[in-house]
Amino acid sequence: MLVGGFGTRLLPLTETVPKPLVPLAGRPIIDYLLDVAPHDAEVVFTLSYSGEEIRSYLESREDSDRFIFVDEEEPLGTGGAIKNCAEHLDEEFMVFNGDIISDLDSKAMIDFHHANEGIGTIALREVEDPTRFGVVDMDGDRITSFVEKPPDPPTNLINAGMYVLGPEILDMIPEGKVSIEREVFPKAVEHGLFGFRFDGLWTDVGTLPSYLLAMNDLLERRVSRGEISEPVLVAPDASVESELTAPVDVGKGARIGKGCRIRNCAILEGAVVGDGAVVDSAIVSPGAVVREKDVIAASILGRSGERI
Ligand code: GTP
Repeated sequence: MLVGGFGTRLLPLTETVPKPLVPLAGRPIIDYLLDVAPHDAEVVFTLSYSGEEIRSYLESREDSDRFIFVDEEEPLGTGGAIKNCAEHLDEEFMVFNGDIISDLDSKAMIDFHHANEGIGTIALREVEDPTRFGVVDMDGDRITSFVEKPPDPPTNLINAGMYVLGPEILDMIPEGKVSIEREVFPKAVEHGLFGFRFDGLWTDVGTLPSYLLAMNDLLERRVSRGEISEPVLVAPDASVESELTAPVDVGKGARIGKGCRIRNCAILEGAVVGDGAVVDSAIVSPGAVVREKDVIAASILGRSGERI
């Protein structure tokens, strides 16, 4: 699990909470990844930024005896981080970007990988507008090339940030800071890289809009499973004195005063929203305070009051 990034695009939230621990619809992001990863496998976490905090959360989970932690002194990029774990990767392994929420069927992906006998398999996602992503070109199930942000994309399929790889790929990663997506995969194509297409839930939670979309998707799923009656989640000890317009997530111990307009937002653990305030399409960081009648719209409010 690649969990060493800075999470710059979620600042100022990630100033105080490392991205893998950011609460999303009531759970830390990393928990969703662990739902999807094979439950009987050892899990290696590549730690860098805020590594200690991430590690201590993971060690508090019941299944922590299958976790291995590998520290990076300096961020090595996605490829360098994988190479840095080489001593634990002498068999076939999966890689998960730490900010992807999905319901990928890992077993089906591993079976697909075995059937193709390539050096690696990349989960692929079809998107409507692929021009801002890295797109793959395909011949059947085989990836033939990668095209970065193409004006005229050959397919609508993008790299979904989850891979099954053979240990031979480690020899193709040079020492130092390396991006697996940009520097290794394009060269691995000639050794047989395959694309596993899947539908269902998939979203990266790297930005405010994508965080809010993921929150909505996860809350809607809980509604369809009958766990909640509308896409609104209020922690049992939160106090809410205003109406909430879905989707909304109110974390543990958060307090929302009277006469507020609260819509499409996450008000995280211990945050306080003063009377008459507006919070719309926003994240209020854990412990942050929205002053009375203040307006927080389309932005992230940090604990120290900074907003971006
Ligand atoms: P931004 O700073 O907002 O781009 O966030 P990010 O760096 O966390 O995410 P990015 O999409 O660039 O990276 C994809 C995944 O790889 C994320 O889960 C990151 O945690 C992880 N990652 C990125 N760079 C590194 C690194 O140098 N080391 C490690 N261990 N993980 C990394």
